[in-house]
Amino acid sequence: MIANYCTFLIAIDGPAGAGKSTIAKNLGKALGFHYLDSGAYYRCYALAALENGIEAQDETHLRQMVHTTAVSVQYPESGTPVYFVNQRDVSSDIRSQRVSLCVSPISQSPAVRDAVNLTLRKIASSGKFIIDGRDIGTVVFPDANLKFFLTASSQIRAQRRHLELQKRGEDVSLSQLKSEIEERDRMDSERAIAPLRKPEDAILVDSSSLTPDEVVAVMSEYVEKAHQRGLIR
Ligand code: CDP
Repeated sequence: MIANYCTFLIAIDGPAGAGKSTIAKNLGKALGFHYLDSGAYYRCYALAALENGIEAQDETHLRQMVHTTAVSVQYPESGTPVYFVNQRDVSSDIRSQRVSLCVSPISQSPAVRDAVNLTLRKIASSGKFIIDGRDIGTVVFPDANLKFFLTASSQIRAQRRHLELQKRGEDVSLSQLKSEIEERDRMDSERAIAPLRKPEDAILVDSSSLTPDEVVAVMSEYVEKAHQRGLIR
């Protein structure tokens, strides 16, 4: 059993559709940690940019938008977090395909990245957190207690996203999703600031042939080992 730590941070980075949010949520539940989904914050700003007609290259207007847009999250006792943009519940809108298509370009904006990083660092300044994203273990929290890099083949990731969208009633072909996911990987990995890459000290977990429960079990073992070895105080 994991002891109660004052501050304990687990970073989970990886490409689109690797299952980070499901795993982070379930691992959080299993360990009694809070879960922060950094991608959801980027999605909130991407939705705001879309609705205000601001292009990804328009740094001046993105910077203004960040200052005038209130992004917040509420954690109900049970159930999933609720995201708000200027007090409007956008939890469903931010998962739509139109947001998925513009979030990577928008997240290249330094103003947007600064805003998200500031929020994450403020929230996670004390307590037990699992945070998932692209640059959590490399840039936002390089001193995280434990780092994972969760990946899976692009075919499997596209299949997972396909199922997710089908449940939302959005019909996108599997081959189209696979190329969109690969394009998003490319943009996230090749960008100049905070590119997606495995932190050197991260544990690589390939979820291609693992169920979510199996991934959570693998990660829980690492958390327990780190605790036993006294690496986590
Ligand atoms: O859920 P999915 O894996 O599709 O992506 P997400 O976690 O919701 O993140 C959406 C997008 O936000 C990513 O493709 C990145 O472009 C960006 N992002 C980022 O740049 N840095 C992060 N820490 C998290 C997300």
